[in-house]
Amino acid sequence: MVELFFLAEEKGMKAYGVENNLILYLFSKILKKIKKSKANFIRSDLRKIDLKECDYIYLYLLPKFLEEIEEEIFEKISPKTKIISYKFKFPNKKVKEVYLDKFFIYEKNF
Ligand SMILES: C[S@@+](CC[C@H](N)C(=O)[O-])C[C@H]1O[C@@H](n2cnc3c(N)ncnc32)[C@H](O)[C@@H]1O
Repeated sequence: MVELFFLAEEKGMKAYGVENNLILYLFSKILKKIKKSKANFIRSDLRKIDLKECDYIYLYLLPKFLEEIEEEIFEKISPKTKIISYKFKFPNKKVKEVYLDKFFIYEKNF
């Protein structure tokens, strides 16, 4: 999924990747160096990040993690934000659109 951040950056977006696992976080930092990328990687819990200004939030989280963050994340985002969840769905929130059978799009007020 790290590749997606480099792609977003190439398209002129500001990209921030949040990962709480130390090994995966360090791996991202190494790739960033190799690619000479300006994408930002943060080692944190997504629930601690201010998400109000995000246009898109791309998630690759197992169902148990989606369940953990569901309530808080939809509370925090703004109505314009689109959440794209790869492969797995939130347990309670309604999906707005689906692409290629594996990208599930959500909005706060849908
Ligand atoms: C399916 S893996 C994806 C791994 C890698 N980040 C990628 O995109 O290829 C899900 C990862 O999300 C991390 N994770 C789960 N809950 C999280 C949270 N609330 N904040 C940040 N990372 C979280 C897990 O530690 C795990 O490494």
